[in-house]
Amino acid sequence: MKKNPIVAPSLLAADFTDLKSEMDMINRSEADWLHLDIMDGRFVPNISFGMMMVEAVSPLCNKVLDVHLMIEEPEKYVADFQKAGAEYITVHAEACKHLHRNIQQIHQLGIKAGVALNPHTPIQVLEHVVDDLDLVLIMSVNPGFGGQKFIFETLYKIRQLKEMLESRNSKALIEVDGGVGLQNAEKIMAAGADVLVAGSAVFKASDPESVIQSLKAIGNIPRYEV
Ligand code: DX5
Ligand code: ZN
Repeated sequence: MKKNPIVAPSLLAADFTDLKSEMDMINRSEADWLHLDIMDGRFVPNISFGMMMVEAVSPLCNKVLDVHLMIEEPEKYVADFQKAGAEYITVHAEACKHLHRNIQQIHQLGIKAGVALNPHTPIQVLEHVVDDLDLVLIMSVNPGFGGQKFIFETLYKIRQLKEMLESRNSKALIEVDGGVGLQNAEKIMAAGADVLVAGSAVFKASDPESVIQSLKAIGNIPRYEV
């Protein structure tokens, strides 16, 4: 089946000293979403940026703002991220004691809700919430840092998830995050992904717009079986 990915460059790899130019590039490009990685130094061993960055970028960026919360107790902050401009908020299953409630809370804010799974977390944790989800984010590296190597095992997990979503008639999107680039995007899409997050592959490239364009064109080539 021919399908082009939703392409979501990750701001984490952008040049923070020149965000205006980076956002101009994103706006000119074929990117669909902008992915924002929020890290708290507790859930993950790194601190990135918070809602003030989302708020700063929001008026500069005309793409969908896709906020990935790698934080403990996300329920305390989701309303602030929505106010800052988030259109999708994704929480980690491993960080939520009350995942079902947290998903409801995001929906009550009038935006889309996603759940992220670390590489070791089985998709079965989604069994009783999957019907409520707009998105499932499959981590293909251990969260906390950009520029890591894609974990190959993830391809099987994407396939498993795709089967689960199909069997439940779910419309949730499968987003894949970590180590994604032109070298593996085709396989990731063939495994069942809908959204490709790419940080380093886009922002560290000499021609980021053409990388985005090539990622976007992935569905134009015949399906590749893994
Ligand atoms: C990792 C983040 C990713 C990161 C991806 O914890 O969730 O979104 O920005 O960066 P790359 O594409 O460089 O692996
Ligand atoms: Zn992310």
